[in-house]
Amino acid sequence: MRRSIIAGNWKMFKTCAETRAFFDALIPEIQNVEHCDIVVAPPFTALSTAVDETEGTRVAVSAQNVHSEKEGAFTGEVSVRMLTEVGCTYTIIGHSERRQYFGETDESVEKKTLASVGGGLNAIVCVGEILSERDSGQAIEVVRRQVRIGLGRLTESALSHIIVAYEPVWAIGTGRTATPEIAAEMHAEIRKIFAEIYNPAAAYALRILYGGSVKPDNISALMKKEDIDGALVGGASLDPASFVRIIKYS
Ligand code: PGA
Repeated sequence: MRRSIIAGNWKMFKTCAETRAFFDALIPEIQNVEHCDIVVAPPFTALSTAVDETEGTRVAVSAQNVHSEKEGAFTGEVSVRMLTEVGCTYTIIGHSERRQYFGETDESVEKKTLASVGGGLNAIVCVGEILSERDSGQAIEVVRRQVRIGLGRLTESALSHIIVAYEPVWAIGTGRTATPEIAAEMHAEIRKIFAEIYNPAAAYALRILYGGSVKPDNISALMKKEDIDGALVGGASLDPASFVRIIKYS
């Protein structure tokens, strides 16, 4: 059985003080949660605070991005070793906002993924089509390309540190969630691609999260689908009360 993951992506929200306030409210509410892994991805500046606040709890801390080089003259960037040093155990890679606003490509996703798992991080790698691609019937083809280029050359041991997040771009921050059926269809497709590239056992073990307007009132229907192993939550992860309701979907 795959263990579910509920992950919160805070994007460019929350200072250190706001991070402390969030965990002060969240932690008491999730003491008894055992059915899923919980991951929170604050901005870089609040990572250390988040690690301190979650010490001894079930919450793991994730970065939202990472650079693929070990170190160097890359102004504004942060390396894998810098993240693991502060206590991060995950990073998100290739989020659609990184692809759209910061020029990330399937090729950079591959480099970042290899560097991350090589350096001891779990990687939540995002894929997903934009609206025009869905409307023109190309959604599967686009995701297939993103997976093949971004995640097609991993070792078996690296694979166990990969989590895929399917985030149809048209559903992110729009309030327009993919129906559980649309999401489940693509999740099954992603598993099929992994079975083709690697093998059925690796594909079966892969955890695939859905992301895009996940809210307390739609999480249960999504989680009922066999191939949906959790959620990557943006807006609704910023408020501890709504994030708790999502974590306690079952
Ligand atoms: P959203 O964002 O839940 O606010 O739609 C999801 C994401 O971008 O990961």
